[in-house]
Amino acid sequence: MRLTYTSDLWWKNAVIYCLDVETFKDGNDDGIGDFRGLTQQIDYLSGLGVTCLWLMPFFPTPNRDDGYDITDFYSIDPRLGTLGDFVEFVRTAQDRGLRVIADLVVNHTSDQHPWFRDSRSSKDSRYRDWYVWSDKAEPDDPKSVVFPDKETSVWELDKKTNQYYLHSFYRHQPDLNVGNPEVRDEIARILGFWMELGLSGFRVDAVPFLIENVHPKLADPHEFLADLRAFMSRRSGGSVLLGEVNLPYPDLVPYFGEGLGDQLTMCFDFIGMQKAWLSMARGEAAPLVEAFEKRPKAPKDCQWAVFLRNHDELTLDKLTEGERKEVFAAFGPEERMQIYGRGLRRRLPTMLGGDLRRIKMAYSLLFSMPGTPVMFYGEEIGMGENLDAEGRMAVRVPMQWSKEGGFSLSEPDREGPDGPYAPDRVNVADQKRDTDSLLRWFQLLIERYRECPELAWGVPTVLDSGNPAVFAHRCDADGASVLAVHNLCDTAQDVDLTLNGLESHILTDLLGDGTHTVSAKGKVRLPLGPHGCRWLRASTPEVPPDDASIKSQ
Ligand code: NOJ
Ligand code: CA
Repeated sequence: MRLTYTSDLWWKNAVIYCLDVETFKDGNDDGIGDFRGLTQQIDYLSGLGVTCLWLMPFFPTPNRDDGYDITDFYSIDPRLGTLGDFVEFVRTAQDRGLRVIADLVVNHTSDQHPWFRDSRSSKDSRYRDWYVWSDKAEPDDPKSVVFPDKETSVWELDKKTNQYYLHSFYRHQPDLNVGNPEVRDEIARILGFWMELGLSGFRVDAVPFLIENVHPKLADPHEFLADLRAFMSRRSGGSVLLGEVNLPYPDLVPYFGEGLGDQLTMCFDFIGMQKAWLSMARGEAAPLVEAFEKRPKAPKDCQWAVFLRNHDELTLDKLTEGERKEVFAAFGPEERMQIYGRGLRRRLPTMLGGDLRRIKMAYSLLFSMPGTPVMFYGEEIGMGENLDAEGRMAVRVPMQWSKEGGFSLSEPDREGPDGPYAPDRVNVADQKRDTDSLLRWFQLLIERYRECPELAWGVPTVLDSGNPAVFAHRCDADGASVLAVHNLCDTAQDVDLTLNGLESHILTDLLGDGTHTVSAKGKVRLPLGPHGCRWLRASTPEVPPDDASIKSQ
């Protein structure tokens, strides 16, 4: 594939790294991460090979939902720095070739936001209609309550004006009303503001809630998304919207902009993620194959964002009750590891019992999935969670830079894990010095991923390996092919594949050493260790594998 082309649509094979400024690195020794600290670590991130940073909310906030409750969309939480620090950070990231996107949390504000304070002050308030008010609490579908540990309804009575306001999440997060054109204009202004300061796009929080929970209902809620995207494209053609849309595939497709691809540039693949966990729990490829085959193709120039873990609970809400129990039993059997009856509040390495082979297999699988991989900070070194922290905060622990922690010279504001996942056992400095470390392996994985644009761009096909524990697929683009094979179980397996169109080709291992020749009939046998994984590039004997991607066109 031509780099000039793939680079123009940079998001289609980016490597996105999600971090919270507050937990990444403290630059002024007050125990709280900040932009100055983060800026000093840019070389670490560019050395890792990631191409785009996604910053969790960094705006002024009373911090009752870890910053997802905002009081000013045009400024920086003073604990994290100043706008000046932010601009310096973006400039330094750009200098090292990294793009930056940020959380856009405009479904709701904090109840402390000046707009809501004014809105609730009187029915005649200038901002009354910026939020969703009703004379009665509309009947709640129990499933519509997102945080059942804290809320029983999405309507809250506000005594002053004796009306109810809508809050899709916590009661201190009143929903903004995008049915009001002034609110829609303000949202565009927020996007425009941060784009002027160098952002390449946004991770859009809670998109279905944003466009559906409005008053009056929008005639076409999707038109609003298309308008936002058009606004961004006018200002900067390469800017993206990455949407949080946890819906079954058929309901999700309209969020890309059916047929046109003119709404969200990327959507997280929540279904594929949940099926991947079910596959890993069972040691069987079938659930993942099912998702792989059912997943609709993203419209032209759009892309799926694939992930295994994020900053929230590992939600398993789209599995059946029985399937969810299987994943709980395998990866979070204790009640304190579970949350909201639907998820797990653990990081990936602990769920996989710290087994390096299994951890590598999981990420190899993730990066080989058609789409743009999104990682959560600390995954590259195998960080664990702190179950003593409240709720979802368990996974939002300080980054572990050295044996002593290295996050701050003072006592960190948040506590990290102890025992086998404490900084003295899991940290960047040690892993940098160790060529066999997870960190070094991640660097290789990301390098190979970037060298294989076929994985993200190509036509994906599941291969019949005849072995229920093995997930094998190939991705073909512009006459070049990359194969990936993953063993989901803990015993060695031989995989027999038939590779149509690749008869007599050479397969070169990309994550380790080795070559295999495909027979004249297109057959090849690939051995895999317990939880083994392999990526292989196909080339003809005349073309060196490194040139296969471009020479085959
Ligand atoms: C989704 C975010 O990922 C989550 O962390 C937050 O609590 C809710 N949206 C509400 O903003
Ligand atoms: Ca600080």
